[in-house]
Amino acid sequence: MTPFVDQVPLRDAARASLMAAIGQTPLVRLTTFEPHAGVEIYAKLESRNPGGSVKDRPALAMILDAERRGRLRRGSGGAPVLLDATSGNTGIAYAMIAAARGHRACLCVPANVTPERLSILRAFGAEVVLTDPMETTDGAIIEARGRHARYPGRYCYLDQYSNDANWRSHYETTAVELFRQTDGGITHFVAGLGTTGTFVGTSRRLRELTPGIVCVAVQPDSPLHDLEGLKHLPTAIVPPIWDPTVADDTLAIATEEALALAERLARDAGLFVGPSSGAALAGCLEIARRTARGVIATIFPDGGDRYLSKGRSR
Ligand SMILES: Cc1ncc(COP(=O)(O)O)c(C=O)c1O
Repeated sequence: MTPFVDQVPLRDAARASLMAAIGQTPLVRLTTFEPHAGVEIYAKLESRNPGGSVKDRPALAMILDAERRGRLRRGSGGAPVLLDATSGNTGIAYAMIAAARGHRACLCVPANVTPERLSILRAFGAEVVLTDPMETTDGAIIEARGRHARYPGRYCYLDQYSNDANWRSHYETTAVELFRQTDGGITHFVAGLGTTGTFVGTSRRLRELTPGIVCVAVQPDSPLHDLEGLKHLPTAIVPPIWDPTVADDTLAIATEEALALAERLARDAGLFVGPSSGAALAGCLEIARRTARGVIATIFPDGGDRYLSKGRSR
């Protein structure tokens, strides 16, 4: 028996193992989609995190950071309630980790969130505040800010859009994993922009590990898109953690193209992924067309099972 297991009660050991299961996700090669010899395309399957998405990484980092600073304390009576705005995946990650670590969570979510996500949030015991779907995640952000302003002592507002622990989680984990999983051979990194934490944190570290790497951001081509988790930055509240100097290029992807590619990923590669993974692949294909030789790697943020009620599979 390891000293760790000897020293802690079983309940705490079980909690530690849930946190330890976050990250170290598989990287798979998408040979079917490689347009010509010389270019390899890889995707990191973030649906394999215990909460089912890439958001387990920043949620854990932000919660641990708030605990270290004394902003979050365990317990019920009088302990601050974890508060944030989320399009769903961060909420699920918060709710899961909060349940495991003994915190209460209140999550502001646009009312058009898929029923699957809503049910998962509630299964973890989180309080859910539904906001106007027409105002997208921006409406949820305004609601969370308003609650925090009205009751500052009641909530610990993690504000994933401004929280440095968000991008740092990718700087410390996602980037290092990508570097190791490609044997240091990664030449291009492509990722979608939501809070921008994935792209900013991963790109910053990859630039240190692989000088000369090309980092390309992907966003929807219009404000009225259907790519959950992604933001059209020209018309959205720009996240304070966004750093445009990290991006060598930004590609605009149409919803239809992303959905068609997500469908092809299921049928031609056996990968059942969400719409934003289709957008990430669209970005990779655009870069692959422009590149003679290279190793392109991207992030597939979540799985297609979170979107079944949208009835996309024909
Ligand atoms: C499905 C999905 N894709 C992409 C993203 C974007 O990731 P980030 O917020 O790190 O920019 C998110 C973020 O919530 C997401 O839920």
